[in-house]
Amino acid sequence: MKEQAREITGKNGQKYTMKSINAANAEQFLDFMYQVSDDTHFMSRYGDEVGKSENDIKEEGKRLQSLYDDSRQTMTSIFEGEKIIGNIAVRCVGKGRKTKHRCEIGLGVRKEYHGAGLGTHLMKYAIEFAKDAGYTCMELGVLEDNDKARGLYKKMGFVESGRLPGAFQLDDGTEIGEISMYKIL
Ligand SMILES: CC(C)(COP(=O)(O)OP(=O)(O)OC[C@H]1O[C@@H](n2cnc3c(N)ncnc32)[C@H](O)[C@@H]1OP(=O)(O)O)[C@@H](O)C(=O)NCCC(=O)NCCS
Repeated sequence: MKEQAREITGKNGQKYTMKSINAANAEQFLDFMYQVSDDTHFMSRYGDEVGKSENDIKEEGKRLQSLYDDSRQTMTSIFEGEKIIGNIAVRCVGKGRKTKHRCEIGLGVRKEYHGAGLGTHLMKYAIEFAKDAGYTCMELGVLEDNDKARGLYKKMGFVESGRLPGAFQLDDGTEIGEISMYKIL
């Protein structure tokens, strides 16, 4: 969804811009996804699985634009200048009448900005966005060894609903379970 840019302040007093992104931000967004996916194993892809070719940028642009043009979904990023340093996605689980009350989120912040309160800013924003869009349930999946993210989600009022053992299989053979969490809005 298209939203007005707003200024936010990190715990360090630094000011950043938060705004929804669209096709024009595809290259910046892929650069962001590459780094966050390369820094930890917590994202759904390895960094080298995030494309950066002309075609990848074009395809990502289409995906971002369709979220931007949809009043019930958003990709909202925190910018430092022209660089995306954090992002949250709010997507619908289903558009039919039986599941249109449910949304899911995905979140990431570049490593060098962790602990500055940006994840909390993004979560607070996503919860307000989802309420305004008429969702009554917000859902997410988090790896069981991701203590920081689990702490953040608990702080924001999410509760656990289940665990899928071996949800991720890393290249070195390690298997990691995924916890499902939800929050009633
Ligand atoms: C999870 C992530 C988004 C948090 O972003 P952030 O900007 O560092 O988060 P904030 O500074 O706003 O908040 C951190 C909160 O996490 C929790 N937290 C931090 N470290 C923690 C730890 N070691 N154990 C438990 N909880 C912890 C606290 O609740 C803290 O809030 P507080 O400072 O008010 O107490 C960030 O670490 C990240 O992008 N990680 C890599 C990608 C990822 O894991 N994405 C989520 C996939 S499900």
